[in-house]
Amino acid sequence: MSAATARVGGDAGGTRSLRDEEIAFGTADHAAIAKLAYAEAGLVLAPSKSQLVYGRLARHVRACGLRDFADYIALIESDAEERARAVDALTTNHTSFFRENHHIDHFAGEAWPALRQRLAGGGRVRVWSAACSSGEEPYTLMMAALGFDRAAARTLAGTDFRLLATDLSASSLAAAREGWYAQDTARTIPAGLRALWTHPAEDGGIEIVEAVRAPVAFRALNLLRDWPIRRRFDVIFCRNVMIYFDAATKARLQARLADALERGGFLYIGHSERLAANVAPRFECVGRTMFRKVTE
Ligand SMILES: C[S@@+](CC[C@H](N)C(=O)[O-])C[C@H]1O[C@@H](n2cnc3c(N)ncnc32)[C@H](O)[C@@H]1O
Repeated sequence: MSAATARVGGDAGGTRSLRDEEIAFGTADHAAIAKLAYAEAGLVLAPSKSQLVYGRLARHVRACGLRDFADYIALIESDAEERARAVDALTTNHTSFFRENHHIDHFAGEAWPALRQRLAGGGRVRVWSAACSSGEEPYTLMMAALGFDRAAARTLAGTDFRLLATDLSASSLAAAREGWYAQDTARTIPAGLRALWTHPAEDGGIEIVEAVRAPVAFRALNLLRDWPIRRRFDVIFCRNVMIYFDAATKARLQARLADALERGGFLYIGHSERLAANVAPRFECVGRTMFRKVTE
């Protein structure tokens, strides 16, 4: 929690102005923010998350020159830009390179070879990293697909291949597009791939090389809203975002992901996520939290 030790919980009207640097935050404030986060992004913020909400938003309240969450709530209800910043701050963007590596092994070993062949024959291949956070997931997929073959990157450049990487969080997308990571973040990239597909950056971090970045298109997209997507994907990674949604939102999202996937295509979800009962019959399970679409 921030240095300002706000009193969290209690009655909204009863926790105002404790010390100059403190920002009053009560249960009614939490409820108003939770309602907004749910409506905007599907995020479920139970009352037990009030410290998290305070920690994520207090600096925004201050940055807006306000001393009171009630005023900040009034502001984000009317100001779409500040509302987007608040929702961005409420998202959890934890991710890593080669996260849940069994998915990556399956993608590289089982899904990609047929897709690469299709590309070689002049076909089209589309992969979607939905909720890509700061880019580690889509860059991982590119490195896994290219393997240790420098020439493969040149070949891929001349094909109809795109990796769409989307997220709601503008700040995460900005980091993803930059393609810069701290050494500590990069350590989960296998050494051989790291040597091939990243280079040292001036400030002690690493940068993803252009060949890996070029096929990745980063776009802002809210999974709850319309998707400006015309054709289906061959592979969808939608991992570790549904955990923040309630059952109805998960079921709706999964049905839409199934619609957006080619028959025979693969869907990868997070390790603690499950397919909803209305969606599961459309897939066969091909491994832990990995599915192949078998029917419309
Ligand atoms: C924990 S990260 C997961 C990143 C990556 N998929 C992984 O598994 O490592 C969850 C991401 O979901 C995004 N997110 C949350 N709600 C969203 C929504 N309604 N639409 C799109 N992205 C959302 C957050 O901004 C965050 O970057």
